[in-house]
Amino acid sequence: MEFAWNSDQEAVRQRAASFASEFLAPHAATWDQEESLPEGVLRACARSGLTGLTVPKEMGGPGESTVAYALAITELAAACSSTAVTVAVSSMVAETIANIGTPEQRERYLPSLLSGEFPAGSFALSEPGSGSDAGSLRTRAEIKGEQVFLNGEKSWITSGPFAGVFVVWARTGEGEGSRGVSTFLVEPSDPGFEVGRKEEKMGLRASPTVSLNFDDCRITSDRLFGEPGRGFRIAMQALDGGRIGVASQALGIARAAIDAVERYYEVHPHRRGAYEESRLAHMKSEFAAARLLILQAAWLKDEKKPFSAKAAMAKAYSTEAANTICQEALDLLGEDGCTNDYPVERLFRDVRVTTIYEGTSEVQRIVISRSFLSEAR
Ligand code: CAA
Repeated sequence: MEFAWNSDQEAVRQRAASFASEFLAPHAATWDQEESLPEGVLRACARSGLTGLTVPKEMGGPGESTVAYALAITELAAACSSTAVTVAVSSMVAETIANIGTPEQRERYLPSLLSGEFPAGSFALSEPGSGSDAGSLRTRAEIKGEQVFLNGEKSWITSGPFAGVFVVWARTGEGEGSRGVSTFLVEPSDPGFEVGRKEEKMGLRASPTVSLNFDDCRITSDRLFGEPGRGFRIAMQALDGGRIGVASQALGIARAAIDAVERYYEVHPHRRGAYEESRLAHMKSEFAAARLLILQAAWLKDEKKPFSAKAAMAKAYSTEAANTICQEALDLLGEDGCTNDYPVERLFRDVRVTTIYEGTSEVQRIVISRSFLSEAR
């Protein structure tokens, strides 16, 4: 057993770390205040080979491992978590297109996602009435010959205003719940498609989260993505990988919080006593445990072994630990922590949603328990 990532993975981590320190860290607080990310930065990120890291080389991607991907997202998130979530969701979209897409779909979308021509890809599963119970979605798609008509509304969609492609789930059959759901690729210029309301959020404020409206949105049937009626499985498989990304994002935010506390004590050494040492020791232990769970899930995915439950454990544990770490950091800085003179208040706001999106902690625990129950059978 080895407890170290390899030199290729370290090279990706370093590439992400230098991109993050040069292009993200100096601006993250301003972007948070302005509530927007420059599209040029996202394009530069893709051009630096940091979007769609796991897309295989034979499809024009960097062909890196999931372990490398997890390390890269952690580095980006430590500098700017709004950028990290944009890249993570886009990478989930790119990887799913690589896995499920037809040769024509790969040809049409992957080069744009990988080159940064599209600043992002977007994942449109949630709806106003279906979040955790994703199988109860109501958006409908009617396939009429060569045409498909989509009607419905999606909500909580990351990167909606600038995404070049949307993976959209819609009901095509009469099956109950998750049955009868199919997946489609929608482009922003498709007639009847509209980006709706932008949410006012407590955290990740530079990453836009919007609703999407489909009003007889017309696409051609070659935009059907994967097998008809099997769309729910596509969503679950994508989210298994996506949850490693969110766990890594939370870990990066947690590391930034720990670093901020250490920097604070360099300036205010008299504030660092035995109590503070003990709290920092706890934060660092939680960070280390979370990192091991993430790397294990990522390694299992790379080894093509079952990883769904381990990704769920990594996501639930890391995001909850990161929330605790950010809260501790805020407490340790006292009143200073509550001002925007220090990054901790932003980190505290940014980390909150990580226990919620891409499946709440309770959803992760459902995934974990079901895997144990099926092993016990
Ligand atoms: N891989 C492949 N197939 C899977 C699977 C997996 N990991 N998990 C389930 N399936 C399959 C099942 O085998 C089953 O297939 P059959 O119909 O052929 O039998 C089917 O999917 C339905 O499975 P379940 O009965 O387990 O489904 P469920 O309705 O009980 O739901 C759930 C389970 C885990 C709660 C699921 O609904 C879920 O993950 N909910 C959370 C959704 C979520 O994470 N949304 C986040 C959206 S993205 C986002 O946050 C925005 C963003 O941009 C960041």
